Amino acid sequence: MPISDADILKAYHERTKHRLERFARGPEYLDWDDQPAPFRRFHGAAERPLPLTADGLRPSFGQLLASEVPPAPLNLDSLGALCELSLGLAAWKQYGPQRWALRCNPSSGNLHPTEGYVLTAGVPDLADGVYHYAPEAHALEQRAACPWPSGGPRLLVALASIPRREAWKYGERAFRYVQLDAGHALGAIRIAAAALGWGLRLRPATDADLSALLGLDRPQDFPHGDREIPDLVLETGPELAADGDLQPWVQAAAAARWSGAANALGGEPRIRWKVIEEAEAASRIRRPPGFQPPAPARPPQIACDTPAVELIRGRRSAQAYDGRTGIARDAFHRLLDALLPGTPPLDCWPLRPRIHPVLFVHRVDGLAPGLYALPRTPAAEQALQDALDPEFLWAEPEACPPHLPLRLLRPGECRKVAKVLSCHQAIAAEGAFSLAMLADLDQALGEDPANYRYLHWEAGLLGQALYLQAEVAGLGGTGIGCFFDDPVHETLGLCAARFQSLYHFTIGGPLTDLRIQSLPPYGHLQRPADPA
Ligand SMILES: Cc1cc2nc3c(=O)[nH]c(=O)nc-3n(C[C@H](O)[C@H](O)[C@H](O)COP(=O)(O)O)c2cc1C
Repeated sequence: MPISDADILKAYHERTKHRLERFARGPEYLDWDDQPAPFRRFHGAAERPLPLTADGLRPSFGQLLASEVPPAPLNLDSLGALCELSLGLAAWKQYGPQRWALRCNPSSGNLHPTEGYVLTAGVPDLADGVYHYAPEAHALEQRAACPWPSGGPRLLVALASIPRREAWKYGERAFRYVQLDAGHALGAIRIAAAALGWGLRLRPATDADLSALLGLDRPQDFPHGDREIPDLVLETGPELAADGDLQPWVQAAAAARWSGAANALGGEPRIRWKVIEEAEAASRIRRPPGFQPPAPARPPQIACDTPAVELIRGRRSAQAYDGRTGIARDAFHRLLDALLPGTPPLDCWPLRPRIHPVLFVHRVDGLAPGLYALPRTPAAEQALQDALDPEFLWAEPEACPPHLPLRLLRPGECRKVAKVLSCHQAIAAEGAFSLAMLADLDQALGEDPANYRYLHWEAGLLGQALYLQAEVAGLGGTGIGCFFDDPVHETLGLCAARFQSLYHFTIGGPLTDLRIQSLPPYGHLQRPADPA
């Protein structure tokens, strides 16, 4: 009997669980001198530097969330700002002789497996084509010159991933992180587009079509074998075409002249993680699901005067929390409100919500510490009630806004358990709250094995919303990919393998390591800022 793709993915998920007695299989040691190069370049491709225009954008983050930003025209200035605020550098950090770049999008282990591409039609002063975005140089590398059949101006943005970057450190579990990172990157692009007053729609595409569109199916352009796998493609800009059919684009790309060869990531891949390749093949998008129109915009619950650019660039992962700072109940409710469909960046998600947080509440003023759930749809509330510990209360907490589906499951101190479950990381206990994101994995894989990717993207997208909302609340967030899977499930009374935790997150009062120096993101370019 051939094994189905869904079974391959269930087996992958099972074997890449961290267990209390042993972590998922990874490299036995790390040679830091052998780290994959953080930046992909295409040598031989024409380089088009982008202007550094983000500092010229004036809207506050509150205006961005409320969709009150007048749409910027699509030109090189706005394209520069879009890239700068999504996949661009946010800062350089320095500690002694060590110097490393941080970006507007977060990434597990700061390894950044996600690569960005833009496909432009009719953008003034830019030849129509397929471009790879090089974040360190803040430049476009022209991979293909393509006279697209559709006029313009139009802008597609696509993501692809290099799993080896992540697997170098995390071994077999890395495929999960690669997918979560792609979800974060999607969220970062959605927010950068909103800062320009632009809408954003994911476009359905098969892996084969997206590979052809981005030139990923050209092995001759990847001479060192560090291939990229296609993730997703979206359209953004001041006006979105009603017709999202990508076939004319795919055909034009197939006939295009391509240039550039991918750099070597460096170091020999010591280990080939076969199960990642299997998971990747089994989760391939062969028949994209029907995308729903975006959820209706909801008036944001927060007023935030911080300039959007400052907030986006200032988003950082907290490496430690002070163990004291809490969050007021109303601010907590507003933060959770942003996890419901309809608020950027979640307003771009075209599938029904399948990720549902369970919260470990430690320090929310006016709310009893304990376990809570936030089922993001009424149907999920029933399914979770059926699946989780039958002793859970499912009580509406006092003063909870009627529209917010926050439910108290079990009151009581849960700092210790939160820390243990997140691989003994103190960040899960020393903040105001942490959470686990549950998804009905069995059901989703039964419908379509590609849901393995969609579920992780949705979780990453929620993570990006949490990062930004933490900054709005004057706190700091951190994604947590390292958690003990089944002990989480046991704590929640889940006995069947249906609901699984795919990602954890924590928010609280961050501690800053003052020994680490922060430097501006693009000081190395010495290109004058060019306000829009
Ligand atoms: C999917 C994902 C998983 C992560 N897991 C952890 C984790 O388990 N523990 C941790 O301290 N940080 C974790 N992080 C935070 C990253 O280390 C952080 O994003 C990276 O160092 C870059 O820093 P920045 O977020 O400040 O840009 C995770 C981030 C992502 C996106």
